[in-house]
Amino acid sequence: MSRNEIIVSTEEMERQQTFAEMVRALPHRPKSYHVVTYGCQMNAHDSEKIAGMLESMGMASAPQREEADFVIFNTCCVRENAERRALGNVTWLKEVRKQKPELLIAVCGCMIQEPGMADRILKQYKFIDLAFGTANLHKLPEMMYELLNGGNRVVRVEEKDVIPEGLPVRRLRHDAAYVTIMYGCDNFCSYCIVPYVRGRERSRDPEEIIREAEGLLESGVKEIMLLGQNVNSYGKGLPGDVSFAKLLKRLDDTGIPRIRFMTSHPKDLCDELIDVMASGKHILPQFHLPVQSGNDEILRLMNRHYTRGQYLDRVRKLREAIPGIGLSTDIIVGFPGETEAQFEDTMSLVDEVRYDSAFTFIYSARTGTRAAEMPGRIPEEEATERIKRLIDLQESLQQDTMKRFVGTEEEILVEGLSRRSEQAVSGKGKHGISISVAGSEKDIGTILKCRVTGLKNNTLMGVREA
Ligand code: SAH
Ligand code: SF4
Ligand code: F3S
Repeated sequence: MSRNEIIVSTEEMERQQTFAEMVRALPHRPKSYHVVTYGCQMNAHDSEKIAGMLESMGMASAPQREEADFVIFNTCCVRENAERRALGNVTWLKEVRKQKPELLIAVCGCMIQEPGMADRILKQYKFIDLAFGTANLHKLPEMMYELLNGGNRVVRVEEKDVIPEGLPVRRLRHDAAYVTIMYGCDNFCSYCIVPYVRGRERSRDPEEIIREAEGLLESGVKEIMLLGQNVNSYGKGLPGDVSFAKLLKRLDDTGIPRIRFMTSHPKDLCDELIDVMASGKHILPQFHLPVQSGNDEILRLMNRHYTRGQYLDRVRKLREAIPGIGLSTDIIVGFPGETEAQFEDTMSLVDEVRYDSAFTFIYSARTGTRAAEMPGRIPEEEATERIKRLIDLQESLQQDTMKRFVGTEEEILVEGLSRRSEQAVSGKGKHGISISVAGSEKDIGTILKCRVTGLKNNTLMGVREA
């Protein structure tokens, strides 16, 4: 292994299992837990691992945080408001504890890996009983034992880059599952804090991934979502002829009905991957391809390593190979120094591409990143005005873009009852867009064939096909 990578060994997992049993045997341990999750799918999946470990320690999930003996906040720090929201909620719990003194509070996730955060928690947030970073997650049983047996606060942040294997997982859904294929990120986009809090890029052994996917298929899972900050560079540093395209091909051959993945970096999106997608049987025709900006100079300052032209070329290639593919993106407005004309380039790119959906963000300065030192901070009002224009444009185009599905056949994996009606269910079609059809609770978790009949309030409506 290169650098400071370590693969968590079976012995370490056995050690943690022993701690879990020791916690289970403690008479005064918490009986119920509740995990509050912020941030991206990575964090959502980490929360499933936290839940799995806590259940191995004999705790049961409490549906409401007010009912739990132990509340864990899994935090995100990608933008300042994410961080503020998390801290606000943790502080609110301090009040709850006045009525319930036995309540235990833990904070974990990306925010804890920020420089100086462990110190701040020790000195400023004294009511937090346990804090740990993303690199310590797999040692939760050990930390819990220390907290409960020793009675002292535990604050643990490690710098090591870990690939945890074999953790117990309590999955939120039975029909769809997250599968992490790589951890960390090496791209250092100039605005982004993720590489600092999630460590260096490291890929899981393909055999472990295949094993996990086959296990999921056997247990009835119909859809897997492969996770990584930059899945296209999967395999870097691994021995042998390993690549994301090859991994995807092998997963396609397992027979899992639906395979999705995120996130892709445009600079690493190669033709081999497009070919595998086009010829695959189970790889869904959808792609999340964050563009961030439509202006070359801003893209250069963002350290994205592609131009507008190269990005548009990738989009063209994807659409040629996989006609009708669902496309989504992430966009940042108000990057330091962004002029009105540069913002207009983003608007014109959105107009040109016609995304099925776009996640738009106002630039947020993150301490320690290069962009935070760049001149030309855009005033809040201006950035807000820009994002409004961008959202309006996207919404006006989206109606039109979605019309291409009307009259087509689709297959949805039913996620739940529709928000609008009790007699309808909804789920995502192959292209990643939600479709609503008549149905009931018993349809949840099944794949339904349907014909899209229309578009109502930005939602596709369909009827079942036999
Ligand atoms: N690895 C993924 C996701 C990173 S975070 C990717 O590269 O796409 C998800 C999105 O948050 C990013 O795509 C970006 O649009 C946004 N983001 C990241 N840092 C940000 C910041 N400092 N301010 C505003 N938005 C940011
Ligand atoms: Fe952040 Fe860029 Fe890595 Fe995505 S690719 S996590 S935006 S540094
Ligand atoms: Fe947030 Fe960490 Fe994900 S910073 S976006 S939870 S990787």
